[in-house]
Amino acid sequence: MVDLHVHILPELDDGAKDWEDALDMADMASSSGVRTLVALSHANLPGQNSAEFLKKYWEQFYNLENLLKKEGSSLEIVPGMELMSDGRLPGLLKEEKFLTLNGTKYALIEFDFEVSASQIYEDVDGMLNAGYIPVLAHPERYRCVSRQIGHVFEWQQMGAVIQVNKGSILGRFSERIRRNADLILKHRIASVVASDAHSSEYRTTEMNEVAEILETYYGSASVEILLKENPWRILCGEEILDSMPISFEQTLT
Ligand SMILES: [Fe+2]
Repeated sequence: MVDLHVHILPELDDGAKDWEDALDMADMASSSGVRTLVALSHANLPGQNSAEFLKKYWEQFYNLENLLKKEGSSLEIVPGMELMSDGRLPGLLKEEKFLTLNGTKYALIEFDFEVSASQIYEDVDGMLNAGYIPVLAHPERYRCVSRQIGHVFEWQQMGAVIQVNKGSILGRFSERIRRNADLILKHRIASVVASDAHSSEYRTTEMNEVAEILETYYGSASVEILLKENPWRILCGEEILDSMPISFEQTLT
């Protein structure tokens, strides 16, 4: 499996609390069948000095890579950031102030949970116009999606890639969010499922449980597509598979 969304680097954000935690997260990922993961950090937060932050990011990235090598781990880590979206983001990416996913045209973006749907339309449009493909992290968690789930289909149709969180599928956030995730998956609007792991104890890198749920409720092809094929294609900068998504009926919202 390939996990596109893991906060495994310590001292950068609210992810791994120290190197021991980071190595535990790596072990857990490996033993649940993950071969490659994106070691990312939240970025483009208000007040963040990007030059300093980027330097610190690379230090932590290479530290973890060396630690994994020393341990004889077969886990591959690749660079990336979960970028707080705003109108300046395409410009900052062009200036290489922040990172896309493994240096490709795919950029993982997030929003405040209270974001308006119109802001997401605007930012997706801005990213696409600048030549980036926005990967929308966990849209099922946004309030505007709970109010009107049909927006997710529209963002996908515009050209955004929809990434659903493991924890949403497992019902770790709320029943409403679990239901949003279920509707997005049933309508084949999601292209990727990722852990969004933050520690080895809570919101972990363990991926077997979600793979089993995907297989049971959405078919074995969903495991191949959402946990292996598409995230791998993204990290290679290739086009993802066309999932032939189904639009929402008003009655389903
Ligand atoms: Fe995240």
